[in-house]
Amino acid sequence: MVYVTRREVFSAAHRLFNPDLSDAENDALYDKCNNPNGHGHNYVLEVVVAGEIDPVTGYVVDLKKLKDIIREHIIRKADHKHLNLDVDFMKGIIPTAENIAVAVWNQLVDKIPSGRLFSVRIKETENNYAEYRGE
Ligand code: NI
Repeated sequence: MVYVTRREVFSAAHRLFNPDLSDAENDALYDKCNNPNGHGHNYVLEVVVAGEIDPVTGYVVDLKKLKDIIREHIIRKADHKHLNLDVDFMKGIIPTAENIAVAVWNQLVDKIPSGRLFSVRIKETENNYAEYRGE
């Protein structure tokens, strides 16, 4: 089994806010990340595909194809957008790194051309990231 990673970056705004909580509770919970008009991050997305090496191509997955799929289904929709307002696959989801990782997984899991989706990592800052492996 070999693990192949494609890295992409996108810039997006978000606001951490739970509509089921009061303004005071949201403020206490999310602090600066609850800023009403949002704030931005330069997100790093890492998509890991696992599989056997194809004896003909020498690939687990063709990274050009994987890049095009990630760009079509994630980057094109999220780059320079507001994750709470503009992005169809984030509708109704609090845009924490954890939830973005799960949402990206759900967008990509049935679109991987060979091998299988192993993990999705979303790095929000140099120090903070979330990873989802489908369970
Ligand atoms: Ni943030």
